[in-house]
Amino acid sequence: MSYKTNKIIIAIDGHSSCGKSTVAKEIAQKLNYIFIDSGAMYRAVTLYCLRNNLIDNGIVDIPNLMDNLGKIKVYFLYNPETRHNDIWLNGDNVENEIRLLAVSQNVSPVAAVAGVRHLLVDLQQEMGKSKEIVMDGRDIGTVVFPDAELKIFMTAKPDVRAKRRYDELTAKGEKVSYDEIMENIIERDRYDETRTESPLRKADDAIILDNSYMTREEQLQWILSRIEEI
Ligand code: CDP
Repeated sequence: MSYKTNKIIIAIDGHSSCGKSTVAKEIAQKLNYIFIDSGAMYRAVTLYCLRNNLIDNGIVDIPNLMDNLGKIKVYFLYNPETRHNDIWLNGDNVENEIRLLAVSQNVSPVAAVAGVRHLLVDLQQEMGKSKEIVMDGRDIGTVVFPDAELKIFMTAKPDVRAKRRYDELTAKGEKVSYDEIMENIIERDRYDETRTESPLRKADDAIILDNSYMTREEQLQWILSRIEEI
């Protein structure tokens, strides 16, 4: 069934690995909206840092990164095979590489750098100019689109999130342990919630969705009902 709505912006924020992008993609498909995974943009900048030795042991070389910011081109291009937009970094399709655990383990300090956030938030706001967009991340309802018509704050129990991410990565053949994933999601949440620049927090007008015990279909229907209400 396809839905007709007024042109709106849907902002989905929340904790690491709780399935924001999965449901955001499904909603965008139903509404024929654009879907933007803002986390992919922070991950692509992190990949640039890893490739160029701008991060060492979780410490970002901020002056060097700032000097190179103009050289970092992050954009989405439609992939006709998957029928989704893939993320590109300076001419490379990095859609798969950005999901590696090595990137997850370094992304939070990169995303805490004010200059990086300004660059990416500008791009995100540009993408939302004509509305009809579903964007997920950490600061979409608070900073990127504070006037979004629908704001959802997603969460789930840490063990449920770790299990889902473990299944996702091992299904792709990555050699990871459940424990290191659990450690990474807890550490990332802590880092994202306590940083000075745009910390992860629920917008006052966001509605909470805890999907610990929900199926994909149930959470999709839950959000579609909220869309119908507005
Ligand atoms: O999918 P997952 O929950 O693993 O994370 P993600 O959405 O890909 O985001 C990766 C990281 O990027 C987060 O842990 C944040 O540090 C950062 N991020 C952010 O700071 N602001 C956003 N709008 C999106 C992501």
